[in-house]
Amino acid sequence: MQNSFLTLSTVFISAVSLFLVSCSESSPPQQSAAPAITMTAESSPLPYNNEITLREIMSSLVDPHADALWNAVRVVADSDGITEYAPESEEDWNALRISAMSIIEGANALMVPGRRVARPGAVGEFPEYEFTPEEVEEKLAADRQSWVQFSRGLQYAAFEMLDAIDSRNADLLSEYGAALDEACEACHSVYWYRAGI
Ligand code: HEC
Repeated sequence: MQNSFLTLSTVFISAVSLFLVSCSESSPPQQSAAPAITMTAESSPLPYNNEITLREIMSSLVDPHADALWNAVRVVADSDGITEYAPESEEDWNALRISAMSIIEGANALMVPGRRVARPGAVGEFPEYEFTPEEVEEKLAADRQSWVQFSRGLQYAAFEMLDAIDSRNADLLSEYGAALDEACEACHSVYWYRAGI
């Protein structure tokens, strides 16, 4: 019984690998501007993967979710007059909950040791105003504790947003939104923008 199961699964695995091989052979060359991510999880001695860079965590996780939270309560003045927006439906609040949770866990991801700041050769949008990834890495190596504190500050601010969301309080959401912004900027003024900016 066990033998035939083993044989079956071996056949299945070979079929899957064949399928993967043929897929990768026929797939077109990558068009993406971002360099490919090489996953080394299988060979890595670490129980987690830390290959996504800090810059990518910012642009693909923390920033979009923070925008969703900040945009939830807003006043828009245009040719139609002044319109106030606030979350109304359960769907609205649930989407905000996902964003607050994502920042809370994103802050944990920031604290995972051994992450690169950016991919080798990546250039920032305003290089003259930003510390280079190498400079940020030096700061991190010299004082890990401050980095952890700024990350915890972000996490705390996102927990407050979660409280506002769970109590369905749009005013609090807006108030804590300002604190969330301060948590971002406190860290950026040390690790991202060059002095005087
Ligand atoms: C613990 C520190 C820290 C916190 C907190 C933090 N950031 Fe960042 N952020 C950085 C660093 C460091 C960089 C610059 C990385 C680099 O050199 O590209 C950065 C860069 C960025 C970038 C630019 C990404 C890119 O593609 O160039 C955005 C956008 C950003 N952060 C948004 C935010 C927002 C929004 C928040 C708060 C909700 C936030 N960050 C909180 C450290 C932090």
